[in-house]
Amino acid sequence: MTTTAPDRVRIHPGQLHGEVAVPGDKSLSHRALLLSAFADRPVRVGGLAPSGDVAATAAALTTMGAQVDLAPQADGSLAGSVRGPLGEARDVLDCGNSGTSLRLLAGVVAGIDGLTVLTGDASLRSRPVDRIAVPLRAMGARLDAAAGGHRPPLVVRGGHLTGTSYLSPVASAQIKSAILLAGLRADGPTTVTSPLPSRDHTERMLAHFGHPVQREVYRDGTEVVTVDPLGDRTLAADEVVVARDPSSAAFWLVAAACGAGTITATGVCANPLRLGVVAALRRLGVEVAVTDQGETAGEPLADLTVAPTALTGASLQGQLVVDALDELPVLALAGACSADGLEVHDAAELRVKESDRIAVLAAALRAVGLEVEERPDGYRVPGGQRPGPGTVEAHGDHRIAMTAAIAAVLGTGPVEIGGFGAVATSYPSFLDDLARLGGRAEVLA
Ligand code: S3P
Repeated sequence: MTTTAPDRVRIHPGQLHGEVAVPGDKSLSHRALLLSAFADRPVRVGGLAPSGDVAATAAALTTMGAQVDLAPQADGSLAGSVRGPLGEARDVLDCGNSGTSLRLLAGVVAGIDGLTVLTGDASLRSRPVDRIAVPLRAMGARLDAAAGGHRPPLVVRGGHLTGTSYLSPVASAQIKSAILLAGLRADGPTTVTSPLPSRDHTERMLAHFGHPVQREVYRDGTEVVTVDPLGDRTLAADEVVVARDPSSAAFWLVAAACGAGTITATGVCANPLRLGVVAALRRLGVEVAVTDQGETAGEPLADLTVAPTALTGASLQGQLVVDALDELPVLALAGACSADGLEVHDAAELRVKESDRIAVLAAALRAVGLEVEERPDGYRVPGGQRPGPGTVEAHGDHRIAMTAAIAAVLGTGPVEIGGFGAVATSYPSFLDDLARLGGRAEVLA
């Protein structure tokens, strides 16, 4: 499995054009593995991202007794089969850099008799776990964590769970999904209410596995999702093939809009709650062609094409920010190359991602000569700017490393990026795709 990337690279300015088939969607890959492990006959899985985060979920499920057989395919994706059932983990579950693995697995083990310890790398061990510990405790699981109960390692004593109704203070698919997965093993229905809709992949995939959930979105944006317990049943599906990752496609779409050349990302997950980057580019005056390509495992598929455009300016907040949360780093470059700049509000969640993504993004932008105003819940990037040469440190954050690479492509001189190996978290083949589209990178270490 290709889960590594070089640690230090120099990327050069240039033109890019053509088609790109980015890796499978990270969120969908985790869920395909997790839900398949609830099945007691093999489920064929395909299109999975060959990434570090997905490998962490696969390894954790194996430690819990699932049979996970995956092999690399010609297109770079992973395919194979997964079957449960899951039991008490034989060892500590190391989730590496993956917040999604840790949070979703916590929901799974909460309903399994036994003790589980979940941990990860230094970045993951600095991220909050209270957000899942509080609702899972309310369902009857016993949880404790380091740093006064706030950060991993997280210890879960799982067992009997009571169906509950939880009001989440944030619109987070990780929180929602952890609770829904625990709810599968509870003794009654479990409801999660969130202030705004978040990506509904768990809900769609549960339906694909024959266990539909009820989901309603009210006029004020409140999202209410209810799952019934599985009881004696198991989840079942013959096959789950996951769509490609819009968050990975976002790097190329922003590069295209800002003048690198016309690029099409093929076979991307076109779930409306994942196309915030498309909505944001449209607000900036970019025409994005979305060509329907059918659907896979309950998720719509599309090809996305962007050509160089004269960008205007925009202010993003509310639902659009939830939908574009992971793409906000690279969208800052679209702001810089626009006429009037880009303002982002309501994005305080960025501070608890793989890094404090507002602070680390601001440092990266400044390192290539761009002006940026850091705000508690977002940023403002003035327009009319072009990145220059510089040296950027990724601080263990894959999306910062790839944002720096796109800054280099669009800039006036080479950018050296330290900690580039972090891209393996979601997109180990990023440099191959850059070369395929006509870009130039040197590997330094
Ligand atoms: C994810 C949900 C998002 C996103 C993360 C993946 C998921 O996090 O940022 O990259 O797969 O559920 P939150 O739900 O915590 O905002």
